[in-house]
Amino acid sequence: MSVKDRIILALDVNEKDYALEIVDRFGDSVDIFKVGLELFVSAGPSVVEEIQKRGKRVFLDLKFHDIPNTMSMAGQAAARLGVFMFNVHASAGYEAMRRVSGDVTSLCLKENLPRPWILGVTVLTSIGAEELKNEFGIQHSLKTHVRHLSGLALKAGLDGVVASGQEIAMIKGHCGDKFLIAAPGIRPSWTPPDDQKRTMTPKQAIHEGADFIVLGRAVLRQPDPIKALELISLDIMTA
Ligand code: C5P
Repeated sequence: MSVKDRIILALDVNEKDYALEIVDRFGDSVDIFKVGLELFVSAGPSVVEEIQKRGKRVFLDLKFHDIPNTMSMAGQAAARLGVFMFNVHASAGYEAMRRVSGDVTSLCLKENLPRPWILGVTVLTSIGAEELKNEFGIQHSLKTHVRHLSGLALKAGLDGVVASGQEIAMIKGHCGDKFLIAAPGIRPSWTPPDDQKRTMTPKQAIHEGADFIVLGRAVLRQPDPIKALELISLDIMTA
């Protein structure tokens, strides 16, 4: 995979026109854009369609977390929208993940649609070991919990997980090399961590084996976003 196939640019803005302006501004240098909660709630599914009309792929990052039937129906709607990848929370449980992966596969076969990749969010990169223990009452280590949820996602038929760069080697070791990993919380050395706790540099994350890295503020909040992406891509190429 080329560097361009590994970079996902997060369109964390709240206006459709502005999002599309960013897509156009990056032109050929970005192929995959992430539409998350902020943009989807503000602009609706039409923004996804507009991005796709420009020949770009969309990762729909809505992190479904609900009962199995609702997860399945939402997943099928995402497949009909034509996104290349979407995600669900692995902590919604095995049955919810199994339903979403099974039902989306059946739908795509029946309606002759490309089947999107489905990833499970393990533990958000904004959560640290202390919160996991004190707020969620998880007594084992963060890595053990990520490992457990990744294994559950694999067993349920998901294609991979969203996890921090720090967990890539452990997940690949546990779930196999083909199990996809998208790593958010990516921060080049020159940017602050913001609200992210488990961060890694782009170069390190690719070196660890990330299939995709998600870049948000590290690019879009820079004075020259195009230059920032160029620097990151160059840095990765020497990984
Ligand atoms: O600006 P920054 O690079 O921190 O943005 C990260 C993006 O990845 C945000 O859109 C956030 O919603 C998303 N994300 C995340 N952690 C996850 C899954 C998705 O930060 N576990």
